[in-house]
Amino acid sequence: MILLGVNIDHGATLRQARYREAPASAGAAVEPDPVALAILAEQAGADGITVHLREDRRHIQDHDVVRVRQTVATRVNLEMACTPAMTEYALRLRPDSVCLVPENRQEVTTEGGLDLVGNRDRVAAVVRAMDAAGITTSLFIDPDAPQIALAAELGAPWIELHTGAYANAYYTPRRAAEFERLRRGAVQAHGLGLVVNAGHGINYINIAEVRTLPHLHELNIGHSILSRALFTGIAEAVREMKARMNPA
Ligand code: PXP
Repeated sequence: MILLGVNIDHGATLRQARYREAPASAGAAVEPDPVALAILAEQAGADGITVHLREDRRHIQDHDVVRVRQTVATRVNLEMACTPAMTEYALRLRPDSVCLVPENRQEVTTEGGLDLVGNRDRVAAVVRAMDAAGITTSLFIDPDAPQIALAAELGAPWIELHTGAYANAYYTPRRAAEFERLRRGAVQAHGLGLVVNAGHGINYINIAEVRTLPHLHELNIGHSILSRALFTGIAEAVREMKARMNPA
């Protein structure tokens, strides 16, 4: 069984588009509440909930993370930049796992995996600190042999293979080569004793192929699930608003 971690960041993106100024005390009252989405996702079978607290707080807010930690009954995976501030934050929050990702203020979403070669000492320090606190560290990396080898050397128990390049190449001639990169990466990582997760750009079409990658432990999926939920829910949402506009 491949596990599913549902990333709820884009629920918060939608909320921030209208309620950026809402006070933290408004909590669950402003729509859509990402924490309510997390609970529904769990009830539907999600094996864990992922949130990315970005430095610029563009979607998930600090109060969301606190409420996620308090309410999620499965596992909380905190995606974070590899910085001292986020390390302290994670040690206070105590998620079940952290996933170290690169962060660049200009990017629309996480682009490219974390460069372990260029950030070796910083990553090693976070892995050690999390390990001492009983928090599992996952490293979000491109499926490249030197990055995977270094992940194992740094003692991280998990990696998350970045599937973004594959997803972007899906409708191009490069798809087979990108899939092969992921396949080789998964085999290498498993051989080194790493738990192999994957994520970014996985959707209802490419999942048919992604799921055939060897040694997959967990997939972290956000955008496609939130997007699909708009369609599976819009009819009821329109009916309810019309009923409230014109109560019988
Ligand atoms: N995994 C990581 C490390 C990510 O940064 C993201 C994007 O926030 C995801 C998984 C989920 O990607 P998507 O929203 O495209 O499913």
